[in-house]
Amino acid sequence: MEKHLLAVSTSPRSGGNSDSALDLFLEAVGDAFTVEKVSLKSVPFSPCRGCGFCEKEGQCIQKDAFLPLMEKLLSCDVLVMASPVYALSVCAQAKTAIDRCQALWARKYLLKTTVAVPEKRGVFIATAGQTYPDVFDHTVPVARFLFDVSGVRTKNMQYILLPGLDKKTDFAKSASSQAAVLSAAEELLRAAV
Ligand SMILES: Cc1cc2nc3c(=O)[nH]c(=O)nc-3n(C[C@H](O)[C@H](O)[C@H](O)COP(=O)(O)O)c2cc1C
Repeated sequence: MEKHLLAVSTSPRSGGNSDSALDLFLEAVGDAFTVEKVSLKSVPFSPCRGCGFCEKEGQCIQKDAFLPLMEKLLSCDVLVMASPVYALSVCAQAKTAIDRCQALWARKYLLKTTVAVPEKRGVFIATAGQTYPDVFDHTVPVARFLFDVSGVRTKNMQYILLPGLDKKTDFAKSASSQAAVLSAAEELLRAAV
């Protein structure tokens, strides 16, 4: 059976750097998977309320459009998330979605109902305008949290970090960034197919 790859584009700027990097990645690996791409800006959902319901029930109390997406984050074979760096972290759309995954954290660490999926893989693509050495330091741990609660083991996590891309078309003009994406796509194909 073909593996399911769920790709989540989180930038509010469609067709921008992280979205374009994600599209190139999907183009490179697409033949090997059933691909589903979701743009978070088209998913109406609310932030976590911190109510604690999920810590008892393993489910979010807010029955909005995020719930089916959260279950797909858990059930897919490959989870790819793309985000721009905003104020040193992931963008608000990505962070809001990841906060809502507290229900997955509760299932894994409190209720212990998560079934381990040994081969599941996670790929995080981040783009930043700046090039300073620690520009991705506050995004990678956030993505790692998402992968961890979604059942991706550390050895199966990949990070494609693309600095120096500020204007909307910078990725399209950057041969080195495109090469980094294609090389990561090959790595996924070697590991997951
Ligand atoms: C609100 C906002 C905050 C940003 N904060 C940072 C930042 O802290 N560090 C950085 O390097 N770039 C920052 N940027 C630049 C973006 O990371 C960069 O333009 C990125 O490539 C945008 O990706 P996108 O086209 O996929 O949205 C910021 C951009 C915006 C709009």
